[in-house]
Amino acid sequence: MHWHILGAGAIGCLWADFLSRAGHGVSLLLRNHTTLRQWPRDGVLDITEAGQQRQVHCQLETPDTAATIRHLLVATKAYDTLSAVEAIQPRLQPGADVVLLQNGMGQQQAVVERLHGCRVWAGTTTAGAWLETRHRLHCVSRGDTHIGPLTAHTPEQPPGWNALAIALHPCTDIQPHLWRKLAINCAINPLTALFDCPNGDLLADTARLELMQRTCREVEQVATAAGIRLFDAPLAERAAAVASATGKNLSSMLQDIRHGRRSEIEQITGFLCRQAQLQGIDVPVNQSLLQAIRAMSPKD
Ligand SMILES: NC(=O)c1ccc[n+]([C@@H]2O[C@H](COP(=O)([O-])OP(=O)(O)OC[C@H]3O[C@@H](n4cnc5c(N)ncnc54)[C@H](OP(=O)(O)O)[C@@H]3O)[C@@H](O)[C@H]2O)c1
Repeated sequence: MHWHILGAGAIGCLWADFLSRAGHGVSLLLRNHTTLRQWPRDGVLDITEAGQQRQVHCQLETPDTAATIRHLLVATKAYDTLSAVEAIQPRLQPGADVVLLQNGMGQQQAVVERLHGCRVWAGTTTAGAWLETRHRLHCVSRGDTHIGPLTAHTPEQPPGWNALAIALHPCTDIQPHLWRKLAINCAINPLTALFDCPNGDLLADTARLELMQRTCREVEQVATAAGIRLFDAPLAERAAAVASATGKNLSSMLQDIRHGRRSEIEQITGFLCRQAQLQGIDVPVNQSLLQAIRAMSPKD
């Protein structure tokens, strides 16, 4: 089986490794010819994991390559997902398989509405990876990945994914898993960006902790109104446990703000606020966090 990966960033390259070692062919769909020139001609990806190194051979393509696409993994940032898919849509075979692997929510539904006739899955992962250069990847953790169908008549997991050497959890309903990741992200990411601090520092200060708890109570209200049961314990407890376990980590949102990059705030807190508005629920704490992070973000 041959998989095309749209979004050759940290997660895209990590899945290139997973898919390739499971025996699948892999093509990386690069943004353009400028990006193509930043890769070695033979498309070799250097992976470092737990002090071990290995190489993965990928084919490299740009959106104007003629070949059609049967199996597509989309690993862009959430804000790029729809436009990236639209750019390669003419290359998708009828009934193609499309897997979306982003943080945040909203973009998955937008893609489903755009891609009539395709089988679409959404996944959420706790894997961790970063790129030293375009083709040098560090795998920090393979994590846990939940995956499930977004379209009718679609099996729990994409074809060939049962052979991936990762903790993959296929499910019939992916929405609660997407919401759980979203809830934790809402509780931690904007606050760490606002206070410019590692995750654990949210617990070290009474005012920050209280703000996190108020954020969590609003998120729970919106999730409950959407028919989603988040966790057995209150979200504030769960978020505090995650912040403690990842105490020294800098959230992706904090890193984006520090580097002057666009963040996924619109697909995280922005999604939550849009859902709240649809349900007639006031979420003043999350609204003010959304405004604060927007004010710190580069203008598009
Ligand atoms: N990294 C992690 O450890 C991690 C862990 C869990 C979840 N996630 C989530 O996974 C998603 C991907 O994250 P990431 O860290 O892999 O991001 P990333 O390193 O920024 O990679 C995104 C890639 O998408 C490419 N891209 C964007 N638009 C494109 C287009 N139209 N055509 C082709 N390529 C395009 C970007 O190319 P350019 O460089 O040319 O812009 C970039 O290479 C995010 O939602 C993130 O929150 C990441």
